[in-house]
Amino acid sequence: MARAGGPEATRVAVLGGSGYAGGEFLRLALGHPRLHVTQVTSERHAGWPVTAVHPNLRRVSDMRFVSASELQDADVLVSALPHGQALQRIDELLALAPRLVDLSSDFRLRDPAVYERYYGRAHERPELLGSFVYALPERRRSELAAAARIAGAGCIATAATLALAPLLEAAVVSRTDVIVEAKVGSSAAGSVPGVASHHPERMGVVRTYAPTGHRHTAEIEQELPSSLRVHLTATAVERVRGVLVSAHVWLHDGSSERDVRSAFESAYAAEPFVRFVTARSGHHRVPDPKLLDGTNWCDIGWQLDPDSGRVVVMAALDNLVKGTAGHAMQALNLALGFDEREGLGFVGLHP
Ligand SMILES: NC(=O)c1ccc[n+]([C@@H]2O[C@H](COP(=O)([O-])OP(=O)(O)OC[C@H]3O[C@@H](n4cnc5c(N)ncnc54)[C@H](OP(=O)(O)O)[C@@H]3O)[C@@H](O)[C@H]2O)c1
Repeated sequence: MARAGGPEATRVAVLGGSGYAGGEFLRLALGHPRLHVTQVTSERHAGWPVTAVHPNLRRVSDMRFVSASELQDADVLVSALPHGQALQRIDELLALAPRLVDLSSDFRLRDPAVYERYYGRAHERPELLGSFVYALPERRRSELAAAARIAGAGCIATAATLALAPLLEAAVVSRTDVIVEAKVGSSAAGSVPGVASHHPERMGVVRTYAPTGHRHTAEIEQELPSSLRVHLTATAVERVRGVLVSAHVWLHDGSSERDVRSAFESAYAAEPFVRFVTARSGHHRVPDPKLLDGTNWCDIGWQLDPDSGRVVVMAALDNLVKGTAGHAMQALNLALGFDEREGLGFVGLHP
């Protein structure tokens, strides 16, 4: 049975490890040379082998789930609980490990008023907002180095922020509003089945589940470098994994495709997990989540309509990796002083 990490390895416990996000973090952590997974929790499956829930881990791990009440000290605690749960037990979580990575949306926002607007209730621990570093390594690398509290970013928010930030930073965009369309696979809704995710209801859909008011709007606006109104629409599509964001912006008069390219190149040329997909022909000339399953890539492409000045920026990623567990691992690597690429080497599959 493969076991990651030697005696000097960093001890990681995963809270909510039976879910899709926690399970994906577990998969990455088990393959990480410097991490040792000490405990994985599930209330429904306490005592069961983790492979009963995550069969992809057969012959990789012989661990069994424990209840959250059995959690012991670790070097890092990764919480993958549903929204609102980490918030309720935050003092207990902070006491369990000197480093906490929370994959939920409980501590992503800094402004309590914005939290209340998007989540429909006041934040119960507003004094803690701002004490977590938002896990977008491409934008917050220096803050993540040595961070003790890390808030995993939203999957759509990750793609949209990476798609838009360079153009705003380079000031090539003319308007103060941006339209962002997101297509999202079913695993983004988590592993607990519901009426909308029941197979006969979910199969084959192209269902716009959030025409307006998507919560990730708040994160995107928070993380972008200039004040811009983001109009986000999200649609469920027929994939298990994957997010594709298409952002529509308009260039200033006088700006050109060359300015767009140079904005992206200056922002991301040295980034280990951002790739440009800008071929002029062929069916692989735009980012496609199909090629990214299991990987930590964010693929970004763009096209300018010279008549209108509209640029369509496309960003694709796997919601469970670069959209959750992968960026959390990248952020944790930075916080622990490791190479940020460690444990994230899978390049993907084709076809
Ligand atoms: N799915 C994504 O693409 C994605 C992307 C970005 C961020 N996230 C965030 O990641 C978090 C987890 O999402 P998910 O999709 O993995 O959800 P999920 O599949 O429903 O998993 C939730 C996990 O939390 C555990 N849990 C639920 N209630 C609990 C409680 N009261 N006490 C202890 N454990 C409890 C569940 O364990 P049991 O076995 O006991 O039920 C399960 O392991 C969410 O906050 C979500 O917003 C998810």
